[in-house]
Amino acid sequence: MTATVIDGKAFAAKVRGQVAKGVAKLQEEQGIIPGLAVVLVGEDPASQVYVRSKGKMTAEVGMKSIEHKLDVQTSEADLLALIDQLNNDPAVHGILVQLPLPDHLDSDLVINSIDPAKDVDGFHISNVGLLGTGQKSMVPCTPLGSLMMLRDHHGSLSGMNAVVIGRSNIVGKPMAQLLLGDSCTVTIAHSRTQDLEAVVRQADIVVAAVGRPQMVTGNWIKPGATVIDVGINRIDKPDGGTRLVGDCDYESCAAVAGAITPVPGGVGPMTIACLLANTLTACCRANGLAEPEGLTV
Ligand code: GUN
Repeated sequence: MTATVIDGKAFAAKVRGQVAKGVAKLQEEQGIIPGLAVVLVGEDPASQVYVRSKGKMTAEVGMKSIEHKLDVQTSEADLLALIDQLNNDPAVHGILVQLPLPDHLDSDLVINSIDPAKDVDGFHISNVGLLGTGQKSMVPCTPLGSLMMLRDHHGSLSGMNAVVIGRSNIVGKPMAQLLLGDSCTVTIAHSRTQDLEAVVRQADIVVAAVGRPQMVTGNWIKPGATVIDVGINRIDKPDGGTRLVGDCDYESCAAVAGAITPVPGGVGPMTIACLLANTLTACCRANGLAEPEGLTV
C-alpha cells in the first residue's frame, strides 16, 4: 500500500482562510480586531524563527500582532509584570509566552500567571483540567491541528486504537485527551514503554511526538494505519548540509500506512493555523459572541 499523503500545508491554508473570514466579520459587525501578544525571552534561534513566522501569519489573517522581545536576563518579576499588563489589556485576546524559557525562570509559574481565557497555547492548569474533564477550554495548538486532520481524513474516530508516542504536556498528554474525547482507545507510550514496536503495531492511529529522528519505521506500522508525525528534527545529509525529518521514517512508513503526514508540510503548518484559530475563539468568547464553527473541538 502507498499511503495517502495528508497535506497539512493545504489544510492549514484553509484554516487560516476561515480565520481571516471570521476576523473580517468581527471587524465589520463589531468593530473588534483580535490581538495576539507573543512574548519571547532571550535569543534562542529556533524560537526567533517561530516568533517571526507567528507575527507574519497573525498580520496576514487581519489580526493585530503584538511582540515583546525581552532580554535573556529579564527577571521573573518583570516578566510577570508584563503578563499582568497583557492580561488587563482589552486589545489583547491571546497571550503566548514562547517556550523554552531561560533556566532562571519558572515556566509553570509564568504560564499559570496568564489569564486562562487568553491562554491560546492551552497550557494553563485551568485549561489542562477543563480539557481533561471534557469541558470547553483552550486546546493546545499542535494536538488540535492533528485532531483536525484526523477528523477530516476519517470522519469519526470512534472505537479506533490510538497510540500516542510521547508524554509531553505540550503534545502527548493533550493529544491523548483529545483522542479519548473522540472515543478512541488510547495508549500513551514513551521512552520506557516495553516492546514499543509491538504496542505501535496495534494502532489504527499513531501519533509520534518523541523528538527522535526517524525512530518509527514501517515495520512498526499496522498496514493501513494513519500516521501523524509531530516530530521536526534537523539531521545532517550524507553529502553535506541538513534536512528536516520527522519522528517517523517517511519512506518505509508511507509504504505500509493508509495515510501519513509528511515533514515538513504536515503537522507543522497546522500548529500556527490553530494558534490563530484559538486567538479568534478567545476573542469571540471574551466578547460574548458565537464562536466560528469548526475551529475548535
Ligand atoms: N515552543 C515550542 N512549541 C511551542 C508552543 O506550541 N507554544 C509555546 N508557547 N512555545 C513553544
